[in-house]
Amino acid sequence: MSDALKRRAAEKAADVELRSGMKLGLGTGSTAKHFVDIVGERIRAGETYLCVPTSEATRLQAESLGIPLTTLDEIGEIDLTVDGADEFDPALNLVKGAGGALLREKMVASNSKRMIVIADASKQVARLGAFPLSVEVVRFAHGASARALVKAFAQEGIRAEPRLRLAKDGSPYITDNGNYIYDCANDGIAEPAKLASRLDAVPGIVEHGLFTGLCFAVYLASEEGVAVLGRKP
Ligand code: A5P
Repeated sequence: MSDALKRRAAEKAADVELRSGMKLGLGTGSTAKHFVDIVGERIRAGETYLCVPTSEATRLQAESLGIPLTTLDEIGEIDLTVDGADEFDPALNLVKGAGGALLREKMVASNSKRMIVIADASKQVARLGAFPLSVEVVRFAHGASARALVKAFAQEGIRAEPRLRLAKDGSPYITDNGNYIYDCANDGIAEPAKLASRLDAVPGIVEHGLFTGLCFAVYLASEEGVAVLGRKP
């Protein structure tokens, strides 16, 4: 997705969704980054927002823009969270986590009245699973957790190959929460909520990147404009 399209999706979401005075959740990734830039611009123009970042990277960006920040503990319920996604299906189930921030992203989204996604058509799929599902695990016995993951996928009839995410220097990638991530290539997720329940039940798994029932709308940018896809009731 071109940077211009990412910016366009973020601009449209800001125009439709933002009201001065809102409490905001700020997403993570190359698309959400544009929305954070826009919040910074709005603040410089005199609007007020109180925000919770979903990662250390977003926190640093927001601080550099002078955006007032607080914590999820302090803020209570968030009015609106805007984030990117790796994939979304017709029911607006999401796969997230390529940026490694899935745990905080899900916690912030779950504490929001409204969570929306900004994306382009490359993220739109008929069925989730073309993109590997990121799963955050504790470091203790992470190899055993990877085996348990394969079993949990298999119980849903899905073949998965978890691969430990590595940093640029070849050492294991460590999340903002001090954990590891397994990226699980798989042959397709027909029933995301059922797989999510299976994964939720595996000890050692901190969180996974399946977001079901959290996203209210996707702002989908293309050369023709930005379409708004809402969740069916
Ligand atoms: C971060 O952990 C992710 O969930 C991102 O929101 C997702 O990977 C989308 O990122 P991009 O906007 O960079 O594609």
